[in-house]
Amino acid sequence: MQTALKQNVQFTDYHPAPADFFAEVMVGLAQQPRAIPPKFFYDAPGSQLFDRICELDEYYPTRTEMQILRTHAEEIASLIGEKSFIIEPGSGSSTKVRLLLDDLKPHTYMPMDISKQHLLQAAQTLAAEYPWLDIHAACADFTTELVIPDSAVDTNRVAFFPGSSIGNFEPRAARHFLRHLGQTLGNGGGLLIGVDLKKPAGVLHAAYNDRQGITAAFNRNLMTRINHELAADFKLDLFDHYAFYNPQQGRVEMHLVSTQAQMVSIGEAAFHFERGESIHTECSYKYSIAEFQALAESAGFKAIKVWTDIEQLFSVHYFEYQR
Ligand code: AVJ
Repeated sequence: MQTALKQNVQFTDYHPAPADFFAEVMVGLAQQPRAIPPKFFYDAPGSQLFDRICELDEYYPTRTEMQILRTHAEEIASLIGEKSFIIEPGSGSSTKVRLLLDDLKPHTYMPMDISKQHLLQAAQTLAAEYPWLDIHAACADFTTELVIPDSAVDTNRVAFFPGSSIGNFEPRAARHFLRHLGQTLGNGGGLLIGVDLKKPAGVLHAAYNDRQGITAAFNRNLMTRINHELAADFKLDLFDHYAFYNPQQGRVEMHLVSTQAQMVSIGEAAFHFERGESIHTECSYKYSIAEFQALAESAGFKAIKVWTDIEQLFSVHYFEYQR
């Protein structure tokens, strides 16, 4: 068993069903066009590569969002108000919420993550730094089981969803997820959400094609993971990292492109790749402020306020659920 929880930490395990990596890869590779869901990027090495992406000069979202949160923490706190219950789906290391805690002084912070060890570690570290804060960690898959405990009835419930994670959803799935989030929060619930903005393709291109090749390594790590966990034989040097902005769809797409005709086996199965054939590994949707407000409004959220940086690279919105 684990070491004792700090006295200001509670933990609930909702026992999220582990995603069936093998089944999803098989289905994804049999599809035309071939695609593997981006959630599989984040094994331990993949998460480390993602952390390095966040530090890159070319990757503006992380530092820009943090700057926005830092600059407007006081105003955000006054909009949210007192006695807040902050739920963060996919909280990871709970880095960004720290920018708000001193001003917000929430009643409870509920980090929610599918990775139990990481979640517990993050909750314990946060608890030591903020001994006055009640932390109620929940191990759950936020795409399927959003839960708010009964203790939150009389609080002011707010979801914090930074990082433009919403960009990984197709717009219809994003609307569906936001609706579900709103229903979980209940009438009057708040949503503080970070959304990457539309911008010139060159800036996006650089952000997803960094000079050090960290994003390429992050993309290719998916093949390493499949090789290790599913007994496959992807040859990493025979697939190119390919990322581009698709302006019709308003999204960056990442692909792994086969540089020659080849066979790849995964366990007992075998897949033939033509030269130039791709595996679509990620969509990262970009929204103008008005587009995202329209999307959130179609899910029952009323726009209250939006903050951006001076270069209009990134946006942080505050909404209230009203249905
Ligand atoms: C974590 C989904 C917001 O889309 O920018 C970074 C992931 N992919 N570089 C993004 C990512 C390539 C990131 N999100």
